[in-house]
Amino acid sequence: MPKLTSAVALGLALTLTAPMAMAWGPEGHSIVAALAQQQLNPAAEAEVIRLLAPEHTRELADIASWPDQIQDDPALTDLWHQTRQLHYIDFGSGDCHYVPERDCKDGQCVVAGLQHYVEVLSNRSLPDAERLQALKFVVHFVGDEHQPLHDSYRDDKGGNTFQVQFDGRGSNLHRVWDSGMLWSQHLSWQAYAAKLAAEGPVTLPPETKGTDPYADWAEESCRISRDQGVYPSGHVIDQHYVDAELPIAEAQLRIAGKRLADVLDASLGTASGKP
Ligand code: ADE
Ligand code: ZN
Ligand code: ZN
Repeated sequence: MPKLTSAVALGLALTLTAPMAMAWGPEGHSIVAALAQQQLNPAAEAEVIRLLAPEHTRELADIASWPDQIQDDPALTDLWHQTRQLHYIDFGSGDCHYVPERDCKDGQCVVAGLQHYVEVLSNRSLPDAERLQALKFVVHFVGDEHQPLHDSYRDDKGGNTFQVQFDGRGSNLHRVWDSGMLWSQHLSWQAYAAKLAAEGPVTLPPETKGTDPYADWAEESCRISRDQGVYPSGHVIDQHYVDAELPIAEAQLRIAGKRLADVLDASLGTASGKP
């Protein structure tokens, strides 16, 4: 059966050459953005809409995956290479304790990425185009930081090299968390965001350091990746796994949405731009 054989070969080639997953899939990012936008204060919402105008949208959900999409745009190759390590953090130790010199060398991690782009977004003396770009990164990175495997400590590139069987196919653990479990619900991102919004206001976990919330969030995600059954005991992701882990992924989406709203309120929601 030559047809089947070549189809299998093609599938294998795609699996082997597929780029490493870099983020919640577009669905996860749009869900976080939509949940955030519903919770903005009126001043922050007005400033978001004003900044988004050149994109011909009023929806944060429409720009939430742009920091991933630039990898396919030849005109933005340099920006992609400058920012690709800002989508995640690899902790150097299983205690999930953030040590900047070890875990974020040269500011190359999601904690520093958020610090930088929130500062640009908040600075009203910078050009709108620069602040719009910063808005896209902030929306995206808050989402990524809440995907537990974007903040993990094992030597497997956030589960990208942890091969699994999911839905009868070969995949990897990172991809299952970025998009596989969400897709398995067969909901549009709009329907998914509406379902999560209907659960009501989310209770945020306590933050410990206070001085650096982005570091706190990374440590919290790292502990989830370590302690909440994210790593299966074997390499098959079954329904039992999804029943246990999807609620954790959904809680992270809701928490990310609320925290993103709080960041945008603080950055944009006052006349001066100062929180
Ligand atoms: N590459 C290396 N570590 C990664 C992580 N935690 N998430 C996504 N991509 C990665
Ligand atoms: Zn990303
Ligand atoms: Zn990812």
